[in-house]
Amino acid sequence: MGRLAPRPLLLALLSLALCRGRVVRVPAGSLVRVVGTELVIPCNVSDYDGPSEQNFDWSFLASGSSFVELASTWEVGFPAQLYRERLQRGDIVLRRTANDAVELHIKNVQPSDQGHYKCSTPSTDATVQGNYEDTVQVKVLPDALRVAAGPQPSPGPSLREGEPFELRCSASTASPLHTHLALLWEVWRGPARRSILSLTHEGRLRPGPSYEQRYRSGDVRLDTVGSDGYRLSVSRALASDQGSYRCIVSEWIGEQGNWQEIQEKAVDVATVVIQPTVLRAAVARNVSVAEGKELDLTCNITMDRADDVRPTVTWYFSRTPDSTLPGPRVLARLDHDSLVHNSPHMALSHVDARSYHLLVRDVSKENAGYYFCHVVLWTPGHNRSWHKVAEAMSAPAAVAVTWREPDYQVYLNASKVPEFSDDLTELECRIVDVESTEASVRFTVSWYYRVIRRSDDVAASELLAVMNGDWTLKYGERSKQRAQDGDFIFSKERTDTFNFRIQRTTEEDRGNYYCVVSAWTKQRNNSWVKSKDVFSKPVSIFWASEDSVLVVKARQPKPFFAAGNTFEMTCKVSSKNIKSPRYSVLIMAEKPVGDLSSPNETKYIISLDQDSVVKLENWTDASRVDGVVLEKVQEDEFRYRMYQTQVSDAGLYRCMVTAWSPVRGSLWREAATSLSNPIEIDFQTSGEQGTVLNPRLSWKGP
Ligand SMILES: *[C@@H]1O[C@H](CO)[C@@H](O)[C@H](O)[C@H]1NC(C)=O
Ligand SMILES: *[C@@H]1O[C@H](CO)[C@@H](O)[C@H](O)[C@H]1NC(C)=O
Ligand SMILES: *[C@@H]1O[C@H](CO)[C@@H](O)[C@H](O)[C@H]1NC(C)=O
Ligand SMILES: *[C@@H]1O[C@H](CO)[C@@H](O)[C@H](O)[C@H]1NC(C)=O
Ligand SMILES: *[C@@H]1O[C@H](CO)[C@@H](O)[C@H](O)[C@H]1NC(C)=O
Ligand SMILES: *[C@@H]1O[C@H](CO)[C@@H](O)[C@H](O)[C@H]1NC(C)=O
Ligand SMILES: *[C@@H]1O[C@H](CO)[C@@H](O)[C@H](O)[C@H]1NC(C)=O
Ligand SMILES: *[C@@H]1O[C@H](CO)[C@@H](O)[C@H](O)[C@H]1NC(C)=O
Repeated sequence: MGRLAPRPLLLALLSLALCRGRVVRVPAGSLVRVVGTELVIPCNVSDYDGPSEQNFDWSFLASGSSFVELASTWEVGFPAQLYRERLQRGDIVLRRTANDAVELHIKNVQPSDQGHYKCSTPSTDATVQGNYEDTVQVKVLPDALRVAAGPQPSPGPSLREGEPFELRCSASTASPLHTHLALLWEVWRGPARRSILSLTHEGRLRPGPSYEQRYRSGDVRLDTVGSDGYRLSVSRALASDQGSYRCIVSEWIGEQGNWQEIQEKAVDVATVVIQPTVLRAAVARNVSVAEGKELDLTCNITMDRADDVRPTVTWYFSRTPDSTLPGPRVLARLDHDSLVHNSPHMALSHVDARSYHLLVRDVSKENAGYYFCHVVLWTPGHNRSWHKVAEAMSAPAAVAVTWREPDYQVYLNASKVPEFSDDLTELECRIVDVESTEASVRFTVSWYYRVIRRSDDVAASELLAVMNGDWTLKYGERSKQRAQDGDFIFSKERTDTFNFRIQRTTEEDRGNYYCVVSAWTKQRNNSWVKSKDVFSKPVSIFWASEDSVLVVKARQPKPFFAAGNTFEMTCKVSSKNIKSPRYSVLIMAEKPVGDLSSPNETKYIISLDQDSVVKLENWTDASRVDGVVLEKVQEDEFRYRMYQTQVSDAGLYRCMVTAWSPVRGSLWREAATSLSNPIEIDFQTSGEQGTVLNPRLSWKGP
């Protein structure tokens, strides 16, 4: 590829070419740069024939002189001596960016670089058509931009989350041309950079992508202060605000409606350290509370700041000491507005800003477990929003619920002890030394019977009656019938005394009796639950069922008499082990039949019952109806008289006495029967004196 034409010819041809063809372009208008900055001038070519990769030459024209060759993509010897050095140092670089485009880079541009730069391309076209070069003017301004950090009113060495802070930088330009400044605040955290807020050269504020919300809410703002101050204000610091802050200022110049950045300077303003908030929540470790009482837990908050932070407090409950397990239950909560959310049995209150109480009323066993206090510190944001600054969970407070059993003694006394069958038995079961508890307690009784055994083996207890928590009475098998009959009476005489009566104690009722007093406590749902049983010592109900003894002694006051005389016999009764005896008497006579082999004949003569009613029995002698008399002389003495005795009256006479005991009301029970010794009537013929009765002799003869 060689040169087709010398340059003057080319220029001449170019000026002649009127129709469309090759176009070489550099930026239109002029470029303004500040001394020391880099100048980059792009150049491209289009609408050309020949190879796609085109070559470029750059020449420079200072004012008042002629073009000097600067750089070429294809001719090594092209640059003038003046530029060879700067090309070798790399201060000037011609960089190909495409087959049809290059960029001329001049680093550290100097006032002497001000002038016109011409980009031209050698023709590779079949016919020379179009323009083969383009020229741009470059102005080099002195560096008039001043950027500085501060003065910093805040922050101090560090600040707290939620606190405000401000950063300042100042920027001004003394450029002779009309320029605008643009400013950007950015923060660096390690290698990561975020732009916060910028003021464009056109005077618009633009938040960085992650600051849009805070900018819109007014939490992050940028203000000018005085003629050259730029203040970044953050009203509530976040933990993510920690980092190194830079202020980047660029200077812009507007030319023919196009703005170009001519210079940029950055300054490190400050390093912001956000000190974390130390927050601790403490509760008592071990708490023991009696059932029915109040549980008062305190959550003490300690924090290392005293400014406008608002805690929210939540009390949690868990069955296990691990608060992270699923299922801790929220008991009560205090929100940002100090509103309390709790359940009927719980109350949350705050005594002072650092201590929050949880009061659990009427503690029951279900309240035993672990209590946690969770605290979150918030700072208020705009638009009634809240920003979390710190949170803390307390260690668990282990709460044990102690059950104070009601304490009491139970005594069983027999107030009426039976001595005989059918007597009254009365047992009194008393509750003494009651140590009251807070919970409401109710006492009920159960009555038991146990037979007395001679051997060592213990007989099973039989339930007589049991009282339920609602006072209803249930009878055991042993007492069902007799309670219906009114023979067993269970009663509650006083709040502390229960009674049991057996109206007619039978021998089968003899045995050991004991009572069990149960304490019932009222549950939250108003039901009663039995919590304790106290047994009385047994009381033994026993009387010796010694055989009752009944002795009847017959006597004849006037021993000697003859037929026709009156026979008199008295019977004296004595008894033992018979209760309140009354006696009935029957007079019997035993008479020989005649021959000795046949049985003797016993005749009942007259009787007197326990109510002293006299009745003739087998006294058949109609002529002597009034001839026999039986009388009660004393309670225990009876007299039998037989008037005008006859020989046929001979025999052995006895009193048969029955002892009766009174039974409830007017009834009588037979207790014992006994016969007296016999009194003999024997008429013996003794001469003329007639028949003489000699009781001392047997009627059977000598
Ligand atoms: C060629 O350069 C001009 C001036 O710099 C520019 O406006 C144009 O976009 C460029 N064309 C291409 C294709 O790069
Ligand atoms: C303020 O809050 C309302 C409702 O909570 C929301 O719609 C609105 O966008 C918020 N405004 C700002 C500036 O955050
Ligand atoms: C809470 O603070 C009060 C008053 O300072 C103190 O008496 C109490 O012991 C503290 N309780 C706990 C669990 O730290
Ligand atoms: C709490 O009680 C448990 C067992 O009852 C005991 O092991 C623990 O040491 C107690 N803790 C404190 C702080 O008293
Ligand atoms: C009941 O029995 C107890 C113990 O046996 C005795 O101390 C008390 O005095 C008795 N009370 C009555 C009223 O008999
Ligand atoms: C009342 O609560 C107890 C436990 O405290 C429970 O056993 C009982 O079934 C409850 N009664 C009713 C009627 O809910
Ligand atoms: C009749 O009485 C006599 C005298 O008591 C007695 O010895 C005799 O055995 C009795 N006879 C009969 C059959 O009971
Ligand atoms: C006595 O008389 C009654 C009738 O009153 C009679 O049933 C009974 O058998 C008689 N007894 C004797 C021993 O005669």
